[in-house]
Amino acid sequence: MAYLTVDGAIKRYGTTTALNGVSFSVAKGEFFTLLGPSGCGKTTLLRSIAGFSQLTDGRVDLAGHDLLSVPPHKRDIGMVFQDYAIFPHLTVAENVAFGLKARKVAAAEIRERVAEALATVRLTALAERLPAALSGGQQQRIGIARAMVVKPRLLLMDEPLSNLDAKLRLDLRDEIRAIQREIGIAAIYVTHDQEEALAISDRICVMDHGCVEQIGTPQQIYGQPETRFVASFVGTMNLLAPGAFGLAQVPGVAQWALRPERLRLAEAGARARDGAGGAENGAASIAGTVEHFSYLGREAHLTVQAQGHRLVAQIGAPPPDLAIEAGRQISLSFDPADLHAFDAQGRRVPAERAA
Ligand SMILES: Nc1ncnc2c1ncn2[C@@H]1O[C@H](COP(=O)(O)OP(=O)(O)OP(=O)(O)O)[C@@H](O)[C@H]1O
Ligand SMILES: [Mg+2]
Repeated sequence: MAYLTVDGAIKRYGTTTALNGVSFSVAKGEFFTLLGPSGCGKTTLLRSIAGFSQLTDGRVDLAGHDLLSVPPHKRDIGMVFQDYAIFPHLTVAENVAFGLKARKVAAAEIRERVAEALATVRLTALAERLPAALSGGQQQRIGIARAMVVKPRLLLMDEPLSNLDAKLRLDLRDEIRAIQREIGIAAIYVTHDQEEALAISDRICVMDHGCVEQIGTPQQIYGQPETRFVASFVGTMNLLAPGAFGLAQVPGVAQWALRPERLRLAEAGARARDGAGGAENGAASIAGTVEHFSYLGREAHLTVQAQGHRLVAQIGAPPPDLAIEAGRQISLSFDPADLHAFDAQGRRVPAERAA
């Protein structure tokens, strides 16, 4: 059941349209992620929900009530920012207590709730320190504790991990998810990191140019991209012209697409053919010249030139002695069922029509 509903959100800055009719809803306890390239409107949308910015048009409802008519400080929304936005002269505990003091909560209750919030983000031992004496990840956890401690009805996070190093990002993203589950709050999380979005979300809303491209579970977004933009933004896609490699020319299909991990090295001795559907078990194959090979242990990456296409292949669990020099002729095979089809507008063509 919808808890937060955004309906037809439009935001214009002069001649710039930052949001061009965005609609979605988020369920209670759901972790919902806005994913999209820089400038697609993610921050604008979050700020509009929080009340730091006003929509040009559209409606936002929270728990069945119009949210936009509520003044920002009464919306009861917690927000975590990319740049921490913590007060350097206040201790960790004082930072977390700030919102409660502003709400005139009684001192004893403040102490109790701050202690609880610090324990949740595992900062109890550092409660009396000043932020300057903390790591980036610890500072960001102050931000999370501060947003949570007021028990908001909605938690908004705008790229909270982007200032952190790779290792810390992985740790903290799991922590954020665990904390959100524990308190059972609806969360909207903004990122332009597709892997982070896949890892952390119940559902992802992919945006581009102020519009929603697709809303779905990580599996739907990655496995059944509705548009060529989603297909290429989330993960990597090889885009193939109809007619190349013997791929069918079907009315309405302007482009075929195939994930790198769906390409396999055809077995030694297997003869590469130009046509699709030639190899064993209905698999299609592509003959080409290796441009680049890198062995990464868990997987190997290949770039292959074939019929004017530059294909990327990702081979999982490669044999430990796998080494392919540039310039070698190889054959890649794939299952035609793994192809995605897009029309001239970049919209997905359903499998039954593309078959
Ligand atoms: N105050 C403003 N005045 C004018 N244009 C703005 C303003 N704020 C944002 N924009 C424009 O609105 C569009 C969306 O910006 P927004 O900050 O929402 O993008 P974003 O998706 O958060 O990008 P990023 O990933 O870089 O943070 C951009 O074209 C931006 O330049
Ligand atoms: Mg932003």
